[in-house]
Amino acid sequence: MGWTLDDIPWDSFDRSRLDPEIVKLVRAASLVEYNGAAYAHHLCRIFADDPSFIETARRWGEEEIQHGKALARWAALADPEFDFDAAFRRFQAGFRVDFDCATSRRGSRSGEMIARCMVEVGTSTYYTALRDAVHEPVLKEICRRIAADEIRHYKLFYKNLTRCLGREQLGLWHRLRVAAGRIVESEDDELAYAYFAANENAAAYDRKRYKQAYARRAYGLCREHHVMHGVSLIFRAVGLHPFGALARAASRLAWQIMRHRVIRLAKARA
Ligand SMILES: [Fe+2]
Ligand SMILES: [Fe+2]
Repeated sequence: MGWTLDDIPWDSFDRSRLDPEIVKLVRAASLVEYNGAAYAHHLCRIFADDPSFIETARRWGEEEIQHGKALARWAALADPEFDFDAAFRRFQAGFRVDFDCATSRRGSRSGEMIARCMVEVGTSTYYTALRDAVHEPVLKEICRRIAADEIRHYKLFYKNLTRCLGREQLGLWHRLRVAAGRIVESEDDELAYAYFAANENAAAYDRKRYKQAYARRAYGLCREHHVMHGVSLIFRAVGLHPFGALARAASRLAWQIMRHRVIRLAKARA
């Protein structure tokens, strides 16, 4: 572990620089990060015969939990009413994945590593964009540290993916399908539900509504260079050239789609 909660300059918290929309996103992120323990458990089941990777997965899980704790502590500073334990219970009760099975839902160990890489692409891009967008200094520092961890996580899963691919054959089409599937899945279930569980007390869950509520805020933070960086990491994980003409075209397309979506969601709300 490169840092602890004691390394965060909590005394520098500046209430005058709070943005309530960002507080909502941070609450949601704290739940998803804290749930890292469940994913670490799942990885340990899938790689049960690989003690060195189990060790790596455990350490990784602890780091994700720490991200959750740091974000939750900041969210409680920003809004002392925030009840993290109750929100996390709500999240766990509603967002259910079978974390106790020994085989990957992605069909292979390589597929599982591609899915993990996609999540780290998402988190490293997101915390970098958040770091660049926020004005509150403590949150900025937390995001800087988390973003650095997430990119390191991507690298460790990518390294294990390369190792797994030495034993399993996985064609480009299959790799692309796993990657796209995991990206869609995050947004559809996990993030929308976390946003709901973190920010709503009474209302019933409405997937479309909370998916949009989350996307409008989160995607609005991203700038073109964040998207470009994310696309290059996705390309690398699926085995395509990360900086070639195809990656540049995909990146331009992803940026256009994201921008239009943010504009459309903002208009829908107005
Ligand atoms: Fe994380
Ligand atoms: Fe991570």
